[in-house]
Amino acid sequence: GVFRTPLVSVKGIPLIKYFAESIEPLKDLQVWPDDVLISTYPKSGTTWVSEILDMIYQGGDWEKCQRAPIFIRVPFLEFKAPGIPSGLETLKEMPAPRLIKTHLPLSLLPQTLLDQKVKIIYMARNAKDVAVSYFNFYKMAKVHPDPGTWEEFLEKFMTGEVSYGSWYQHVQEWWELRNRQPVLYLFYEDMKQDPKREIQKIIEFVGRPLPEYILDRIVQHTSFKKMQENPMTNYTTAPTEVMDHSISPFMRKGATGDWKNIFTVAQNERFDADYERKMAGSDLHFHTEL
Ligand code: PPS
Repeated sequence: GVFRTPLVSVKGIPLIKYFAESIEPLKDLQVWPDDVLISTYPKSGTTWVSEILDMIYQGGDWEKCQRAPIFIRVPFLEFKAPGIPSGLETLKEMPAPRLIKTHLPLSLLPQTLLDQKVKIIYMARNAKDVAVSYFNFYKMAKVHPDPGTWEEFLEKFMTGEVSYGSWYQHVQEWWELRNRQPVLYLFYEDMKQDPKREIQKIIEFVGRPLPEYILDRIVQHTSFKKMQENPMTNYTTAPTEVMDHSISPFMRKGATGDWKNIFTVAQNERFDADYERKMAGSDLHFHTEL
């Protein structure tokens, strides 16, 4: 079955069983020059950036963005499950210009996306909030193994024994990629602090200028509250066997610094010391005070 099965390692990266099977066939992915890739480590603001981009592409017409759930409008590259079209199959049918979501580390990304120099929008979120969000997601999305206790999950997060592997590696390798590829590297915390400024960056990066009143409309439409209430963004249209929102909603809190409610003092100290080691030598800096 699909549920609570152990992760499968692909080139050292732990993945959900079915997603692991998607990697090899993705070498045949047909890439178009105007594809835009939305890349993130899980729980870092993927859905948020996806809705912002679809709103930009639709010229701020939110009704057009109601045409389908976000996971249909922005296909998930490595998605695979029994009886449902895979990401690869969905993308084959999809007309340009396409927005594509992925959580893959660079070692598993189809090389054609890099060869074709597609535009990449990466969003990173601070590690502690990602760990908390991921723990709750593991509980509600039963395609993941059982997360165990928070203490146990946090340990696995630190060692990279979670789906998609090490957060530390992921944020750093995509950061380095911006030296050789067109990558707009964004932070969840910046988007929280000043969405208008960050959305403007996206607009410029994808070269789709919009009048200011439309920009304001996009800011409004993509607020946490709006996206939480919107069935086309909040994942309530996904089958309940796959995501059980009664355990923890997909649109959970949408806040920065929620980790302070969950980390013990001891966990925090241990995490900080380990973080220091894993991020040493990188010029990538997060709002760690959050
Ligand atoms: S996934 O499953 O990896 O694609 O999830 P992802 O969309 O990357 O991350 C989900 C978290 O993002 C929060 N979120 C938002 N925060 C602020 N504003 C908006 N509009 C927004 N939309 C989604 C969502 O609530 C998850 O974070 P937590 O901390 O669990 O609430």
